Amino acid sequence: MDFEIVNGAVASLETECLVIGIEDGATLSPSALALDQASQGYLSSLINSGDIKGKTAESLLLQKINGVTAKRILLIGLGKADGRHDRNYKKIVTTISAAIKSSNLTEATIALDGLASKTDDTYRQVRHLTEWVTADLYQYDQTKSKKADPHAIQKLWIHLQEADTEEGEGALVDGTAIANGMNVARDLGNLPGNICTPSYLAEQAIELANEYDSVTCEILDEDAMEHLGMGSLLSVGHGSEQPSRLIVMKYNGGETDAQPHVIVGKGVTFDTGGISLKPGAKMDEMKFDMCGSASVMGTMHAIAEMDLQINVIGVIAAAENMPGSKATKPGDIVTTLSGQTVEILNTDAEGRLVLCDALTYVERFNPKTVVDIATLTGAVIVALGNSVCGLLTNDEELASELSIAGDYANDRAWRLPLWDDYQELLDSNFADIANIGGPAAGTITAACFLSRFTKSYRWAHLDIAGTAWNSAGKAKGATGRCVPLLSQYLLNQAADEMTDDE
Ligand code: BES
Ligand code: MN
Ligand code: ZN
Repeated sequence: MDFEIVNGAVASLETECLVIGIEDGATLSPSALALDQASQGYLSSLINSGDIKGKTAESLLLQKINGVTAKRILLIGLGKADGRHDRNYKKIVTTISAAIKSSNLTEATIALDGLASKTDDTYRQVRHLTEWVTADLYQYDQTKSKKADPHAIQKLWIHLQEADTEEGEGALVDGTAIANGMNVARDLGNLPGNICTPSYLAEQAIELANEYDSVTCEILDEDAMEHLGMGSLLSVGHGSEQPSRLIVMKYNGGETDAQPHVIVGKGVTFDTGGISLKPGAKMDEMKFDMCGSASVMGTMHAIAEMDLQINVIGVIAAAENMPGSKATKPGDIVTTLSGQTVEILNTDAEGRLVLCDALTYVERFNPKTVVDIATLTGAVIVALGNSVCGLLTNDEELASELSIAGDYANDRAWRLPLWDDYQELLDSNFADIANIGGPAAGTITAACFLSRFTKSYRWAHLDIAGTAWNSAGKAKGATGRCVPLLSQYLLNQAADEMTDDE
């Protein structure tokens, strides 16, 4: 489906369906007022008779009305002006998407007059509209023999004032790229562990590099990692038939000598827990344990499509965590690429084991910043639930940059402390560090573990265990988070670097 900006008088737009906002309290939005006048007061008569009140995401579909060119009008409640937070904007968009999905419309026009969102930032409004409609229309069918019927909709027009057109068009480009990146992440996340293996992820990276001249890719196999001394990453895949991979994608959009931003994703393509085997209930969901790497892949797609003027390196630490006679056992000690030794007290705390070697590996790129993204701990769900991800860093500036990016992108992160007080929970009698810190503060001790490997650069960690997928019923599946946050962060970094150059 394509998006395009359209201007002009709403009453004379040629479209199969015109979506118009109605504010709670019976004030007519400019577009609603224009239609009301063109139809000799038809909209106000509907409001007066109580057919629509303008409550958030309330809707009423009208067939052709006199004086208006559009074949249908979908009235959509915008709620009260003081309630226009992102959550309500999203509900409004979801109602519009649902109407599109359940109809045979091939095109429609949305004219919300910028009133559905809390800010009057046209770019942000249009970008969210693009991302959210695309996400609502997403259907997974890669592993179904009967493919999903494609939606009839081909084109969505977004109506803006002429003066806002350029801003809106920029938002469509970025919004489409981010939405596509989210779809990439969702597809990868939804694929089962027997298809989406470490080698499969590597193939996807190679395909990305084939698609864009700006992207190159290098895959390290087990021999290469062994040679380097990545004993920790390799220990996770020991029980598996599937070989581990370290996947390095380089996006070169900036000056050749500009320091890269590095994003590192946990790519555990299935997490049984290993010898510290997980209970059976819901274990299937551990196919989603590569969603950090899926968000890295999705973000690499998005920035390449946006042609960002910045250098970014995306790294995926991919392994399958299985029990077996060759599997790592509790108490085993491994030597990490950094030289530090780790006592693996619980083989289910494997995410940090693959990440730590990847985090040491990326030192060689002299990174400007490093952000890792991982479905790392169940504890983050206890702490923060399913709507925000955990953010841990000791770099104040990075903390605020990532929070700001998450807020702007409506893909929020909330900070947890990473104070030294927690570090001693990782003490081991037999190695330099233990891989678990006991039952308390699980998300923090996991990040403390990672922090032992990130001392030479500016680093932050995002724990997306609560946000990367939905568990419930029909909504079960990968969400594509945190592609929006990461893309926004890199958009902001690129903008900063541009102003620095001037
Ligand atoms: N992949 C899991 C984290 C996870 C658990 C994500 C549940 C989503 C839902 C991770 O590898 C893990 O098993 N973490 C353990 C750590 C513990 C052994 C210290 C956990 O959270 O229980
Ligand atoms: Mn685990
Ligand atoms: Zn895991």
